[in-house]
Amino acid sequence: MTQDEMKKAAGWAALKYVKKGSIVGVGTGSTVNHFIDALGSIKDDLIGAVSSSIASTEKLQALGIKIYDCNDIEQLDIYVDGADEINPERAMIKGGGAALTREKIVAAIANKFICIVDGTKAVDVLGTFPLPVEVIPMARTYVTRELTKLGGSPTYREGVVTDNGNIILDVHNLHISDPKTLESQINAITGVVTNGLFAHRGADVVITGTEQGAKIEE
Ligand code: 5RP
Repeated sequence: MTQDEMKKAAGWAALKYVKKGSIVGVGTGSTVNHFIDALGSIKDDLIGAVSSSIASTEKLQALGIKIYDCNDIEQLDIYVDGADEINPERAMIKGGGAALTREKIVAAIANKFICIVDGTKAVDVLGTFPLPVEVIPMARTYVTRELTKLGGSPTYREGVVTDNGNIILDVHNLHISDPKTLESQINAITGVVTNGLFAHRGADVVITGTEQGAKIEE
């Protein structure tokens, strides 16, 4: 199986958590794109979706799935999204696709976070994947200095503007032994919109695409 086939296996397996007549929270990325294809196959059973990015919104709409504004929804049953890394406690690094802030917002209103990944995303300790941080543009160099004080090596993701009009700093060389504390510390830096650690709100279900098909851990 290729990595993309494993992503596809995970994306389609998530369909079993989608209830008839529901509004689904939808993340962003190549694994989620498979989930969106799967949603397309049951679109007549859905009320619609709340999306975490312009890219996912466009793909959902192209399949005829109605998009709801997050502000109009009090609660979602499930939020389905990928991850760049996930540890055994189900804390994640996300934001490889620069959609971390909207992903965190949609995840916040969901009862269940269903993480869909291929097997390469499982790690013992988070931090090999550079941690994305969304930053207000005028705070870029200040936030860079503050992140360096925390022990990281931030680099500016050239040419990327988030859906919210901000920039991304990718923080290298972190060995994240306490993800919750680091998530709070980074979010407390003035000028940071949010960071890609999903530790306070980790995954509830993990679906991993493997050579043998999708493995579901509840
Ligand atoms: C986007 C994300 C994605 O979920 C993460 O980057 C994983 O992407 P992929 O499924 O393409 O490997 O956080 O901001």
